[in-house]
Amino acid sequence: MTKLFAPYQLQSITLKNRIVMAPMCMYSAKEDGLVTPFHLVHYATRAAGQIGLILLEATAVVPEGRISSNDLGIWDDTHIEGLQQLVTNMQAYGAKTGIQLAHAGRKATVEGDIFAPSAMAFSDAYKTPREMTLADIDNVIEAFKNAAVRARQAGFDVLEIHGAHGYLISEFLSPATNKRSDQYGGSQENRYRLLRQVIDAIRSVWEGPLLVRVSAEDYAQDGTTMEDFIVFSRWMKSQGVDLVDVSTGGVVQADIHPFPGYQVPHAEAIKLGANIPTGAVGLITIAQHAEEILQNNRADLIFLGRVLLREPYWPLHAAKELGAKIEPPVQYVRGW
Ligand SMILES: Cc1cc2nc3c(=O)[nH]c(=O)nc-3n(C[C@H](O)[C@H](O)[C@H](O)COP(=O)(O)O)c2cc1C
Repeated sequence: MTKLFAPYQLQSITLKNRIVMAPMCMYSAKEDGLVTPFHLVHYATRAAGQIGLILLEATAVVPEGRISSNDLGIWDDTHIEGLQQLVTNMQAYGAKTGIQLAHAGRKATVEGDIFAPSAMAFSDAYKTPREMTLADIDNVIEAFKNAAVRARQAGFDVLEIHGAHGYLISEFLSPATNKRSDQYGGSQENRYRLLRQVIDAIRSVWEGPLLVRVSAEDYAQDGTTMEDFIVFSRWMKSQGVDLVDVSTGGVVQADIHPFPGYQVPHAEAIKLGANIPTGAVGLITIAQHAEEILQNNRADLIFLGRVLLREPYWPLHAAKELGAKIEPPVQYVRGW
């Protein structure tokens, strides 16, 4: 039996296989952050392609926390209906559904003020953010909590907190972007405080599987390293996080040279060092490669990004390659 196509128990839910669609912004909402017909087709197609768990793209918990004005939103009750429809469409094909709750911090490109732990712009092309007050921080924690309630109402199976890629939470985690002198800056414990409080707030309203995506390395001298994330992941585990989705980079401008599986060592180190399940992501496109990562216990789930933009039926092809038997949607059997 292949491991890629073996079911996986993620806390209370069973995934039919270990293939996860990584969150990918489609920048296809309008200013209002509502689901559009594009999203309905896009996500349902990947569900028909037999992906085990589909994570919706970064979805903003407040309007000023959008990467762009075309991001999906979950800051208002009006968002629930469209998200609910998306969930229903994906579940129709046996996929489990998740949503990535996000705040873009200093990488927001929307109108008006933007916010970050410290008043430092990402680059010349970005606005300088306002340093968040303690009241601003409390509001963001509350926004993540309210978003979790809305996600539950929409029927999602899984929540993922976006703690990666230089968006708000990862800006707090990294000493390269967090220069605060209060209880949210300085020591590892202080830089982790916002994520700790967001997890606790979400856990107070959400009992289901909870994932956190991290950038486990900044590729910068004054940034975080994998060792920091082993410590952070131990804390996440003690707070009831079920799996760490391990990405890297995006916090500061850095020269990164990706190659197939370049982030797998990070997933492996966190899995071993913090004794918590991890997801591996980054240029994994070949079934045998995915199987190798799982068989060698380097990670527990395989997250696929760009390959699913060009091959929504990747799982069906991968099953053929690995000699696993899975069923296409009943309507398509004659074509398979
Ligand atoms: C179009 C696009 C949009 C993305 N949007 C998000 C996002 O919303 N949230 C996130 O955590 N990562 C995002 N990513 C990163 C992917 O989830 C993934 O980690 C990355 O593409 C590496 O995996 P891959 O080599 O399989 O594509 C995005 C990537 C792409 C290509």
